[in-house]
Amino acid sequence: MRILVVGSGGREHALAWKLSQSPGVELFATPGNPGIATIARIYPSDCSPLRVAEEIGADLTVVGPEVPLVSGIVDEFRARGLAIVGPVKEAAKLEGSKIYAKHFFSQSKIPTAAFTVAQDPLEASRALDRFRFPVVLKADGLAAGKGVVIAGDHQGANAALSVLQGPLVIEEFLEGEEVSFIALCDGKTAVPFAATQDHKAVFDGDRGPNTGGMGAYSDSNILTENQSREILDRVILPTVAATGFTGFLYAGLMMTRTGPKVLEFNVRLGDPETQALMHRMATDFAPVLVAAAHGELNNVKLEWREGPSVCVVLASSGYPGAYETGKPISGIETAEAEGAIVFQAGTRQGRRGLETAGGRVLGVTAGGSDLPAALGRVYAAVRAIHFEGMHYRTDIGAKGLRRAQASTSRGRGEP
Ligand code: AMP
Ligand code: GLY
Repeated sequence: MRILVVGSGGREHALAWKLSQSPGVELFATPGNPGIATIARIYPSDCSPLRVAEEIGADLTVVGPEVPLVSGIVDEFRARGLAIVGPVKEAAKLEGSKIYAKHFFSQSKIPTAAFTVAQDPLEASRALDRFRFPVVLKADGLAAGKGVVIAGDHQGANAALSVLQGPLVIEEFLEGEEVSFIALCDGKTAVPFAATQDHKAVFDGDRGPNTGGMGAYSDSNILTENQSREILDRVILPTVAATGFTGFLYAGLMMTRTGPKVLEFNVRLGDPETQALMHRMATDFAPVLVAAAHGELNNVKLEWREGPSVCVVLASSGYPGAYETGKPISGIETAEAEGAIVFQAGTRQGRRGLETAGGRVLGVTAGGSDLPAALGRVYAAVRAIHFEGMHYRTDIGAKGLRRAQASTSRGRGEP
C-alpha cells in the first residue's frame, strides 16, 4: 500500500516514522524534510500534492498542515476519486476562521468562552466595556499561533487593537489547565487519541511570547476517563454529527472549574503533540487511517503504551521572532543512542551535512516507565545535540509531574 504524507515538519516526520512500522506500507512525502527522507521517498514542493498522488498511484494521502486543508486539498482529491484523510474546505473553516468557529460552538451548544464579534478595532474597543479584564482578543484568520492577545487592562487592549487587523473575536479569559484533545473522525464517528499537553510559550514557566509549541507530552494522568468521555460527548461527537467531519479534529481546551471549554479547534494533528502521540501509540496506525478515509472507524480503538512519551523542541536563536539559519547540527546519533527518537522539522542538507533551516529545528522524543524516567531520557538526549543558538524549555511535563505528586500524596491521605 502506498501512503503519501503531505507536509515538512516534525509532525509529519513523526507520522511517517509511525507509518513506516506498518507492514506492507510504501511511504512517500511531499515536500518532506531530510529526516523524512530517511524513511520515505520525497517529492519536492514544485509538484502539487495531487500530481504526486496521481503519479505514484497513492492508495491514501494524509495531510499534516492546515494551509492546504483550508485551501480545499481534500475536496480536490475526492473529486479525483483519491482517498485522503482530512476535512473538506467547508469544515476546515473551523480552524480557518475563529468567528466561524465561535458561531459554530454557540449553535451546537459546545462549551466555550463567552464572546462577542467585532468587525473592526473601533467596534472592538467599544465592546470592551462588556468584559472583565484580563480579556482575550483574537484575529479572525490563520495566524500560525500569533493572532491571540491577552490584555490585562484597557490600555493593553487598545494597544493590541492598534496592531490586530480586520474582524476579531473578543472573549472571556478562562482559567485552568490547557489540554490538547485530538480525535480521528470518519464523518460519522470519532476515535479519540490519548490526551496531550503542549507548551506554547517560548520560555520556562510559560513565560515569553507564544510559539507553535516548544514541547508536548502524553500520559494517562492528563485527563480522567470521565473528563475524556465528557469532551468526546460534548465537543467532538456533536461536531461530527453537525458537520460530518472527516480527518483529525483537535480541540484546544481549557479545563476550568466548571468543566472543559473549547479555546479553539484545529482541523489537523498538533505539532509537537503528534511527536509524543506517535511515539506512545501501540496500535498499527496505517489500517486505522485507511478505515478513517473509508468511513469505517466504527469499532476501531487505539491502544497506548502505559508509560508517557515526551517531546522537547530544539529551536533556533531568536525564534519565535527572526532567526538565522544554516547552523550545522551535531549529536543526533548520540541522542538516539540515549534511547530517543529525533524528529526533524526545520532542517536541510547543507554542504557540510545537516544544518538548521527553520525556527523549530528538532523534536527530541522519548518514553519511559513513568514521567520522571521519560524526562530523564529525553533531556539526556537533548544535551547530546548541538547547534549554534539552540534553545529549548527545560520544564516540559512539569505540570504532569505536579499532577503525579498530588495524586501520590492524596493516595497517602495527605491533603
Ligand atoms: P488559540 O489560538 O485560540 O488556542 O489561543 C492561543 C493561546 O492563547 C491558547 O493556547 C491559550 O493559552 C490562550 N488563550 C486563548 N483563548 C483563551 C481564553 N479564552 N482564556 C485564556 N487563555 C486563552
Ligand atoms: N501545538 C499546537 C498546534 O499544533 O496548533
